[in-house]
Amino acid sequence: MKTLIKNGTVVNATGTASADVLVDGDRIAAVLAPGSTLLGFDVESNVDTVIDAAGKYVIPGGIDAHTHMQLPFGGTEASDTFESGTRAAAHGGTTSIIDFAVQTYGQRLEDGLAAWHEKAAGNCAIDYGFHQIVGDVTAESLEALRRLPDEGVTSFKLFMAYPGVFYSDDAQILKAMQVSRDTGMLTMMHAENGPAIDVLAQQLVDQGNTDPYYHGIARAWELEEEATHRAIMLAKVTGAPLYVVHVSAKQAVEQLAWARGKGQNVFGETCPQYLYLSLEDQLGASSDEWGKFEGAKWVCSTPLRSRAEGHQDSLWQALRTNALQTVSTDHCPFCMKDQKDLGRSDFRKIPNGIGGIEHRMDLMYQGVVTGEITLERWVELTSTTPARMFGVYGEKGVIQPGADADLVVYDPNGHTSIGLGKTHHMNMDYSAWEGYEIDGHVDTVLSRGRVIVDDNQYLGRKGDGEFVKRGLSQYLI
Ligand code: URP
Ligand code: ZN
Ligand code: ZN
Repeated sequence: MKTLIKNGTVVNATGTASADVLVDGDRIAAVLAPGSTLLGFDVESNVDTVIDAAGKYVIPGGIDAHTHMQLPFGGTEASDTFESGTRAAAHGGTTSIIDFAVQTYGQRLEDGLAAWHEKAAGNCAIDYGFHQIVGDVTAESLEALRRLPDEGVTSFKLFMAYPGVFYSDDAQILKAMQVSRDTGMLTMMHAENGPAIDVLAQQLVDQGNTDPYYHGIARAWELEEEATHRAIMLAKVTGAPLYVVHVSAKQAVEQLAWARGKGQNVFGETCPQYLYLSLEDQLGASSDEWGKFEGAKWVCSTPLRSRAEGHQDSLWQALRTNALQTVSTDHCPFCMKDQKDLGRSDFRKIPNGIGGIEHRMDLMYQGVVTGEITLERWVELTSTTPARMFGVYGEKGVIQPGADADLVVYDPNGHTSIGLGKTHHMNMDYSAWEGYEIDGHVDTVLSRGRVIVDDNQYLGRKGDGEFVKRGLSQYLI
């Protein structure tokens, strides 16, 4: 099966050019000057399908390196299955995810990973890989961790937050980071001081402050800054490469920039919710249906931050200066009914998480429209750097001969009404982005050479997506 995407503007992280893209089977065969011949043959008349991308961008498929399908969390389970979540991702121009396999407390690490393979296999619309959450750092789990690169799992996440759930203390973090140093695996860190947050949260509830807004008050930026600094120093003393997930505080960004300035292998990710939404929005949220509890829609950790304090501006700047390198979604959806609702009388019981896998490419394209980032940086933040950071660059994250034909035809003159009338494909009974009117539109999505989305129609099948064995990070100094 051969496909020609003709007349488009091909955007890679390294530059933009008018070019035709020839796909042969599941790979990109050639990137050609528009209308050119190949070995004397007219290309267009020798392919099975032609996609006209005139006036449109052709970009490498998005890679969302932070998702939580079917995560048991907060007394319930994230509402997207691998099937529904990856289908929604495909609609939004994302062609690969890296989800977090979970080792729970008392569980063997291998069993946690095996359970995640079972959930995902045969169900995904797009390619998928795994990071490993280490929820119980013991001598046995650290031994098992050392063996994961052989299985294509080359990064793991630790939590300085959520005592009693996923939390690791400093001694456990240090030992796990020594494995990271020895193996080259990337340590991913949820950097918030969980024990301190829990005390503040208890005090707020004791004072009768139980609304969702107080979630963000308890999770003060100082406690993100402190944990980020501590993670950096633990990484320094061990020599581990460090990737801090879902950064939302400008002071945490400053810590990352400081460490990078000293030459440390320290990286950071943010998410669209921290760039666009704020604590003030959450405080002001109220509806007939939910009243003040409406704010639960945006309860996530790290929390939304105050716009008046300038966190959002600082995150955009960090994306330009490379203090932050990637934008993922931390897709962890819950419905309001029966899920978020668990915390109606106590914000601590609201399951933490926001769904947004479908909207990341569109939302980050708004940064191009408003001049916050360039077209090439859009591709770099959402596809190329995730590919390099997590060891799949060359196959993914770039439009070049030999790469997987994971491609998106994106119409800059199109329009997308995000969340309007619950038109999204995520398994949620609300949208965190309700009412967002967005320039740009995902027209056509190819995964390994097959058109899986065309003009809002899903043409793929459950099980199209394959497990991707990842190599070590290609981004380290
Ligand atoms: O609120 C969040 N982020 N939920 C998912 C779990 C995590 O910490 O990433
Ligand atoms: Zn986290
Ligand atoms: Zn997460």
